[in-house]
This record gives sequence, C-alpha cells and structure tokens, in this order.
Amino acid sequence: MGRFRREAGPVRPVGAATYIGPILRTPEAEQTMHRTEFISTGMYVPERVVTNHELEGYMDTSDEWIRQRSGIEERRWAAEGEGGSDMAKIATERALEAAGMEASELDCLIVATLSPDHFFPGTGVFLQRKLGVTDIPCLDIRNQCTGFLYGLEVADAFIQTGKYRRVLLVGTEVHSSGIVLSTDGRDTAVLFGDGAAVAILGPTEDPDRGVLAVRTHADGRHAEKLWAPAPACVNKPFVTSEMIDAGLTRPHMEGRDVFKHAVTKMPAALIEVLEVAGHTVQELDMVIPHQANMRIAQAVAKGLGIPDDKMYINIQRYGNTTAASIPIALHECIEEGGIRRGDLVGFTAFGSGFTWGGAVVRW
Ligand SMILES: CC(C)(COP(=O)(O)OP(=O)(O)OC[C@H]1O[C@@H](n2cnc3c(N)ncnc32)[C@H](O)[C@@H]1OP(=O)(O)O)[C@@H](O)C(=O)NCCC(=O)NCCS
Repeated sequence: MGRFRREAGPVRPVGAATYIGPILRTPEAEQTMHRTEFISTGMYVPERVVTNHELEGYMDTSDEWIRQRSGIEERRWAAEGEGGSDMAKIATERALEAAGMEASELDCLIVATLSPDHFFPGTGVFLQRKLGVTDIPCLDIRNQCTGFLYGLEVADAFIQTGKYRRVLLVGTEVHSSGIVLSTDGRDTAVLFGDGAAVAILGPTEDPDRGVLAVRTHADGRHAEKLWAPAPACVNKPFVTSEMIDAGLTRPHMEGRDVFKHAVTKMPAALIEVLEVAGHTVQELDMVIPHQANMRIAQAVAKGLGIPDDKMYINIQRYGNTTAASIPIALHECIEEGGIRRGDLVGFTAFGSGFTWGGAVVRW
C-alpha cells in the first residue's frame, strides 16, 4: 500500500451487504485526524405517560397482546403544540450543562427525525433558533430508526477531518400526531412513542478511545414495507382529505417482514463494525440496540450470544421512538452506570427504508 495505511480490520462482505472500503489515510492526515468521542448526552421525554390500558380504550387491543408481542408497557405522547425541536431543545440544554458548554460553542447541528416539525424547512433550523444560535449548519437526516447512526457516521467524518469540533447529534420524534387511534391503525399505534435525546460529539486526543467504526446500509427495494404513503409530492396536491380518510398518512407496516429482516440485519451490522475495529462480540461490555421490539432485541442477543445484562433495553417505558431510541437508551444506560470509561460499546439499528447500521465505540 506504499505510504497509505488501511483502516483496521478485514474487508469482506457481511451477509447480503457489502462493506465498501477501506478508507485510505495518508501519514500526514493521520497526524491531524482524531477519533470522535461522546462528550455528553441528554434526553427529554414528554410528561404524558400512555399505558397499554389507555390504548385499550381507543382500539381493539390488549395490554397482554402488546406486552407479549413487543415488550412495551407504556410510551410518552407530546402535548398539543410540542414538537420535535421543543423536546430536542430541552435534551440539548441538559447535554450542554453536563458538558459545561454553551450552545454558542456548537459548530454544527445534525438532526435525525422522521417526524419533522414542518414539511420544510427541517427541524434543525427550528432547534437552532430555539437554542439562540445563528450561522452554524443544520443538517436534517431522514433515515428513520437508523437515523442516529447515519448521523453519527456523518458527524464522525466531520470531526475526523477537523471540519467541525463540536457537533450536536439529535434524535427526536413525535409519533403521537401521526398514528391513528383506531383498530385500523393498531398494528403501529401501539408500538411508537415520542421523545428526544442528543449527544455532543468532538475529537479526542486519546488514540485508543472514541468511535472505532460506524457503517450504515440501505435497501430501497423494501421502501413500502414500513412507510407513510402520504403526504407525497408525487401526488397533486400532495395531501387531500380523501388520503387522510383512507389512512394514507398513518404508518403502514408489513410487521412480519420487518421482524424477519431486523433479526438478521441488526446482528450482521454489529459483527461488521466489530470486524472493522478488530474486536469480537465477546469483548463488548454493552450493546445499545435500536428499541424496535423486545423480541427483536432478544433474538439479536441470543443469535450473537450476548448475555441479557449486556443488552440495554428500555422499550417497556418508551415504545419505539425511532431516531430517538438509541440516544435515549444510551443516555439512560450511562445514567444507570451501565457504561463506564474504557468500555467497548456496540450500537445496532434497523428500520424503515429498509435502513440499518452499526457502530462500535471505546468509551
Ligand atoms: C407488529 C408485530 C408485533 C405483530 O406481531 P405478529 O405476531 O407478526 O402479528 P400479526 O401481524 O401476524 O397479527 C396477529 C394478529 O394480531 C392482530 N393485531 C395486530 N395488531 C394488534 C394490536 N395492536 N392489538 C391486538 N391485535 C393486533 C392482527 O390483526 C392479527 O389478527 P388475526 O390473526 O385475526 O389476523 C410483529 O410483526 C413485529 O414486532 N414486527 C416488527 C415491528 C417493528 O419492530 N417495527 C419497527 C421496526 S423499526
């Protein structure tokens, strides 16, 4: 390879996905490149707790059915007028306080959400305004349950190259305004919840710490297996009362197919990043999976031989908060002492698109 050095780890196809690499680094670039560390995290969930029993009053469902199929016991719903940027603002303020930083020290905002405050502009600019910051870039990411890992991959590239030093990475979702509270919408209405969490990311001087590998994937052949058909700019106008009455603005999901793909893609994504980083599943101290479904997380853990106490699960309290689910789980796991400095932490996600990905971080 002459003066170039390969990124650690073998380069080979994993499952149906092919790893496109390696990243080539010059020795000169190596000297100025730093890994990305998590400086702090913060979360916020709306006050309103909605139990499975409350949902029984809106649709033909039961607490037992929801718990058995998903592990969910309750979720949060945002108040009228409370948007993703409002929740993200509070989560950001908490993370800034934990880091001892001011919002003015942020260089870039990356916001992952599938439930933006408005059709356009993106939630990022509303968050920026609420934080009282101006003139820093706001990038909105539309990759659903994998959104936080897509955002991490972008943030990591920005930080490694030295383009930005303080990146705010946000996952925020308001699902309660998109679900339909009737038996027609029950397959998805019981699964999704609202919430926000953020991470402040920056370069670390310690060459052994930080994001060791992050990889994301997508397969658009499955786009309609978990989607909202409307509003849709392929239609003129992009939304009508008929579309709303027909339920086209609510999430539609082929649940069994989603489940089947999730339980293969999530472990494959984790193995891929571990291989890239030169580590094994056995070396992981903690795994933060996307909280899609308790049974999916259990299947991933069982398939990889990860013990229960190394697979962090909080879906019982929040349901599936899509892009916010990984950072909410990460924040709570840290708060509970489940992740300590020096730990090897794995992340894995799967969701609508289909999209999926993994990351491994030396804390
Ligand atoms: C959604 C999921 C829980 C459904 O479980 P399942 O065992 O596949 O159930 P099915 O869809 O086959 O439905 C079984 C029955 O329950 C019914 N049902 C669906 N939703 C229900 C609900 N909320 N309450 C009660 N019954 C429900 C179905 O209508 C069906 O009834 P039928 O047998 O009379 O036709 C499961 O497929 C799943 O977890 N999929 C992955 C979902 C996911 O994680 N999505 C997010 C990915 S990021």
